[in-house]
Amino acid sequence: MKIINVAGARPNFMKIAPLMEAYKAYPSITPMLVHTGQHYDERMSDLFFRQLGIPEPDMNLGIGSGSHAVQTAGIMTAFEPVCLEYRPDAVLVVGDVNSTIACGLVAVKLGIKLVHVEAGLRSGDRTMPEEINRVLTDSISDMLFCTEPSGVENLKNEGVPAEKVFLVGNVMIDTLLKNKTKADESTILDDLGIRPGGYAAMTMHRPSNVDDPIVFARLLDAIEEIQKDLPIIFPIHPRTRNSIARMGFQDRVDAMSGLRLIEPAGYLDFLKLTSNAKLVLTDSGGIQEETTILKVPCITMRENTERPVTVDVGSNQIVGTDPAKILQAYRNVTDGRWRTPQVPELWDGRAAERIVEILAKRL
Ligand code: UD1
Repeated sequence: MKIINVAGARPNFMKIAPLMEAYKAYPSITPMLVHTGQHYDERMSDLFFRQLGIPEPDMNLGIGSGSHAVQTAGIMTAFEPVCLEYRPDAVLVVGDVNSTIACGLVAVKLGIKLVHVEAGLRSGDRTMPEEINRVLTDSISDMLFCTEPSGVENLKNEGVPAEKVFLVGNVMIDTLLKNKTKADESTILDDLGIRPGGYAAMTMHRPSNVDDPIVFARLLDAIEEIQKDLPIIFPIHPRTRNSIARMGFQDRVDAMSGLRLIEPAGYLDFLKLTSNAKLVLTDSGGIQEETTILKVPCITMRENTERPVTVDVGSNQIVGTDPAKILQAYRNVTDGRWRTPQVPELWDGRAAERIVEILAKRL
């Protein structure tokens, strides 16, 4: 049985890694790995492959950046001949990036079964490109693997037959648990001259935050206050760096002595940074999940989340982009007012094993 696995952008790599490992227990499955090239910088891609021991992709489509239509269409055009030549029994896609929907569409139109890992998540916000990718990918998938009960519920409400849906846990957490000890050896804290609990770690790259100068300026208002009190380490995404330059925020950012911009961090360094942070400020999806397992308070600078379990039982607070609310959440954490999180159901490091076992039986 041949399965093409697709990875394209940074958050896909930690999800694909444990799956590639889990296939090894099933000689009847021949997995192939296709990198779309959506992300291509060393620090956004290759570094993750090396650190996570992901096999060299069988193919890199080399698509790169572009508008949504250009990127999505480019991936589709390049992926179709791969499917025609290789004739897989299934295509497996993860997450919610443009590579996910592009390859999913190609597969189903060729009559190839589509498997979606991290299915059913919904923010309810259709202005997010990822939400469109999620809804569309789920609507054409044959097997849908969910990380949390809300995913199962959302799919049920959208009319997806129950026999296609499996609650299996979280492959991103498989990777976190596997690499935690290795990450502890990272020297990033010493390299930056910071100590455990003595800083906040921040990530920010959502288009709704960094492509809108009014929203971005509001976030900078909050960051300006926080960095006076606690140093902020900010591994900066290329999209955000571009926005700062384009919107004329460079001087404002440079003037904040407690805000330290660093290059995008590799997986192990970033895990060390988040594990030891006093708190995490983010607009990422995956980091809301990782901080829940790491038991580090997470302040999410978005109006919604597609990962409600991180709020219900985890360490996550959704605070939006109003500086007053961000600062209030910050003070709650520094004053010790936050709840110790629980581990969500099945986030035990074995999600990929469950997925591959089901694929081996059902495909
Ligand atoms: C994509 C995903 C988003 C995910 C994020 C993680 C979609 C719609 N969005 O957003 O869900 O959270 O990846 O990073 O798929 N760039 C580089 N080097 C790279 C990659 C990108 O410089 O290796 C720059 C380019 O200027 C590019 C911009 O970043 O135009 C945005 O990249 P793109 O892949 O379009 O979207 P992300 O913002 O990374």
